Amino acid sequence: MTVNSWQHDSEYVALVSDLLQRDEVLRLAEFTQHYYSNRLEHSIHVSYRSYLIGKKLGLNTRALARAGLLHDLFYYDWRNTKFDMGTHAYVHPRIALRNAEKITDLSPMEKDIIIKHMFGATLALPKYKESWVVTLVDDYCALEEVGDPLYHRAAARIKKHFGVSIEQ
Ligand SMILES: [Fe+2]
Ligand SMILES: [Fe+2]
Repeated sequence: MTVNSWQHDSEYVALVSDLLQRDEVLRLAEFTQHYYSNRLEHSIHVSYRSYLIGKKLGLNTRALARAGLLHDLFYYDWRNTKFDMGTHAYVHPRIALRNAEKITDLSPMEKDIIIKHMFGATLALPKYKESWVVTLVDDYCALEEVGDPLYHRAAARIKKHFGVSIEQ
């Protein structure tokens, strides 16, 4: 599988097609995320890879696909924006949740996935296995998108936690 094969995976597309038609989601393409990727590409990578892992593990693939896609639904450049309320790591999951709630209904699991996806940089413990998947896949995708070889370490962590490989 390559990360772009999601377009040919009709089962996956069916889970997110309504979201991929929303301007609020498509606008993410205007923002650079990790040097070589825009925020829409990054969000789809996280969503699809989380979905594939969830499928292998019998987890909630709908929550993984949808909350994975919405986990970074914010519209500022994180590299040059500062907040009074806290760090970017703390603030942006909350902004993403607020934006996501405006365009779709979210289950408690989907909310947890979005709000806890920066675990490691933030303290609140993910409540569901699905939330752990997305936070680890997010690390992996971010490292891979900047071409940092440490993404192999992130892949090893996913293998250790879940017993499945993110790379095929
Ligand atoms: Fe994020
Ligand atoms: Fe992310």
